[in-house]
Amino acid sequence: METKRDRKAWLKGGTAVCEPAPEPVEGLRRLVLLGAPGVGKGTQAELLAAKLGACQLSTGDVFRGAKSLSPGERSPAITAALEYMRRGELVPDETVVDLVAERVGCLRCPGGFLLDGFPRTVAQAEALEDLLKRNNLKLDAVVSYDLPTDKLVARLAGRRTCPGCKAVFHIQTRPPKVQGVCDHCGGVLCQREDDRPESIRVRMAAYEKSTAPLAQYYRNKRLLIPVLAEGAPEAIFQRTLKALNGKHAAAKSAK
Ligand code: AP5
Repeated sequence: METKRDRKAWLKGGTAVCEPAPEPVEGLRRLVLLGAPGVGKGTQAELLAAKLGACQLSTGDVFRGAKSLSPGERSPAITAALEYMRRGELVPDETVVDLVAERVGCLRCPGGFLLDGFPRTVAQAEALEDLLKRNNLKLDAVVSYDLPTDKLVARLAGRRTCPGCKAVFHIQTRPPKVQGVCDHCGGVLCQREDDRPESIRVRMAAYEKSTAPLAQYYRNKRLLIPVLAEGAPEAIFQRTLKALNGKHAAAKSAK
């Protein structure tokens, strides 16, 4: 069984610390992954994390993790967030920004970070910029994945995830070795509540209205790297690495 990178500090928050501490790597390692629901951000984050040593910081994973808390352990903001999420709507900016700010140690991690699902609105992007500035950090690049809507829906409908280690599979394109069982930790795979057709429609609309404008926001800051998300995960991963290496080389030669 393969083991996945420890993300305790991100997933649990509070005083949790990851083991072992990652080593710094050469190249671009403070990244945002942008794209519509189902485009494959989580899948690429997993591959990039293994290659770059940077950690996948998914806001969606933190909210899904909160589902396993008893009602008494959940704050009112998290209880409300889970209801927004179930319907496919975005969680209010304030709740999401507070959640990331509480985990600012993960942004400072010497291994770098792969923000997956955050920021999702211009207000969140501005809050991230402010948070990074206050910690003497800056974003290296924003990878923006693109795919036609019909293919996004097919990816969401066949997705299965591991509630234990958060690994992502697809019943046709990325099946686990044993049906219904996680390759990494042996957990029982599940379908996400927000992958139902009615929630998918709401998520797509929220993406078009609130998140798609972020591509222009980051293009204006010369951080955007567009990557076509067609084809197998490994092909997209190689495309992403090539684009990141190109940007890194250009940044080095401009110095
Ligand atoms: P979140 O968990 O972030 O979901 P999302 O952005 O909707 O993205 P997904 O996780 O659905 O898709 P993905 O792009 O990661 O695709 P994946 O790799 O899994 O957010 C969920 C909810 O939380 C939101 O709706 C909102 O309510 C709330 N939330 C979270 N962050 C928030 C924020 N910042 N602000 C406000 N609210 C927030 O791939 C999908 C499937 O396709 C998988 O089965 C995979 O195996 C398969 N697949 C992947 N790549 C390929 C490929 N190349 N070919 C074929 N199949 C593939």
